[in-house]
Amino acid sequence: MTKLSIEDRKSAYEKNRENINKRVIVCAGTGCIANGALGIYQEFLEAIEKSGQPAVVSMENEAQGYHVSRSGCQGFCQMGPLVTILPERVMYCLVKREDVTEIVEKSLLHDDVVERLLYHKPGYGTACRTIDDIPFYKRQHRLILKHCGIIDSEDKYDHIL
Ligand code: FES
Repeated sequence: MTKLSIEDRKSAYEKNRENINKRVIVCAGTGCIANGALGIYQEFLEAIEKSGQPAVVSMENEAQGYHVSRSGCQGFCQMGPLVTILPERVMYCLVKREDVTEIVEKSLLHDDVVERLLYHKPGYGTACRTIDDIPFYKRQHRLILKHCGIIDSEDKYDHIL
């Protein structure tokens, strides 16, 4: 068996990432799981495959298509289940399993958003299109936790970012 160095694995990861159209991250912290996140994760895998596109769960080998992964708690549990679409950083809140097909259609296959699932600032009604527009995240400057919400702790490739 050939041993690969961390650098080799990192460059394989970077190379595989080039073939990934977009990444879907379903928050799989305790709060989001309690509200159905694992079913939503499964629904993404099925809805992407149904659309005729490949869905991958790890960057291993020659991954291509849409990468669907799970993250740890992103801190915004009251708005979960959360779903993030990269690279745009669109964040959807209070997602239900029945919303998944529409997210796939609009956010993955087209560069559109599902407006009703965006975070709306209370009292203003303004929709926050990305994570960076949401006041809860905007006021944070994360250092140690800067990859929280992106890394899939069960995917070894995510640990060598
Ligand atoms: S469990 Fe998803 S934000 Fe906390």
